[in-house]
Amino acid sequence: MAGAVLTEKVTVPKVRACKRERGSEPIVMLTAYDTPGACICDAAGVDVILVGDSVAGNVLGHADTLQVDVPTMAHHVAAVGRAAPRALVVGDMPWLSYHLTPQDTVRNAATLVRAGAEAVKLEGGRQRLAMIEALLGAQIPVMGHLGLTPQSVHVMGGYRVQAKDQAAAESLLADAKALADSGCFAIVLEGVPDVVAAQVTAEVGVPTIGIGAGPSCDGQVLVFHDLLGLNEGKLPKFVRRYAQLSQVAAEAVRAWAADVRAGTFPSDAETYHA
Ligand code: KIV
Repeated sequence: MAGAVLTEKVTVPKVRACKRERGSEPIVMLTAYDTPGACICDAAGVDVILVGDSVAGNVLGHADTLQVDVPTMAHHVAAVGRAAPRALVVGDMPWLSYHLTPQDTVRNAATLVRAGAEAVKLEGGRQRLAMIEALLGAQIPVMGHLGLTPQSVHVMGGYRVQAKDQAAAESLLADAKALADSGCFAIVLEGVPDVVAAQVTAEVGVPTIGIGAGPSCDGQVLVFHDLLGLNEGKLPKFVRRYAQLSQVAAEAVRAWAADVRAGTFPSDAETYHA
C-alpha cells in the first residue's frame, strides 16, 4: 500500500499514518510562534507547525522553558492559528499544565485548542498515561515527547543526551510503546542515540519525529530560530543552519539608521504632501 502523502490540509489522522516503513515521506515539523512565522512555514510546505514552549528562550528571553504558562502559550497558538495554515498546528503544553489533575490538564489543553491548536504535545512517558487518557477522552489529540525533555532540565542536570545505556534505552522503548498504545498519534524523540531512535521507530506503530535523534525517525523537527539563524550562541550538534537572518536583519537596520542620520530618509516620495 502506498504511504500517506501530506498535500492538502494536514490532519491528525494523516500524520498518524505517516510511517516511512509503509512508504510515507518523512514528516516535516518546524516550530513557529507567530503569524509571520506560520506563514513562512506554510509557504515552505511544512507539514506540522509546533507552537513550542521553546518560545520561552527564542522569543521571550527566558533561560528555560519552565517560565512559560498556559496564557502565554495560548497567545502564541492564537497568533499561529490566525495564519490558518495548511500545516497541522500542535500546541505545546507548558510545564505544570498537565502534572496536577486530569481535569486541570483537560482544561489547560482546551484553552490551547480554543486558541487554535489542533492537537497538543506533552513531555514524558508512562507517568503521563492518566493525563493522556483524559485528553483523548475529551477528543484532544496528543503528541508525545520522550528522551531529552527540556521541562525536566533540573532532573536531568542539564540538557544531556538521554537513553545512552541499555537500561535507559529499554525504559524509553517501554515509554514509547505505552504512549502509542494509549493513543498518542506521534512521538517526538529528542536527544537520543540514533540506534535507540531507530529501534523505537521500528517497534512503535505511530510516527516518530526526531530532533537530535538521527536519520531513522519518521520525521524531523527543528526550531525556527535555529534553522534560520535568528539567534546567537552555541548551537546543539543536531542543528543545521540554512540562513543567518539575524545578520541580514542587523545590516538592514544599520543601513536605515545611517540614512536617518544622513538626512536621506524619508525621501520626498516617502513623504505625504498637503
Ligand atoms: O518546544 C519545542 O520547540 C519542542 C521541540 C524541540 C520538539 O518541544
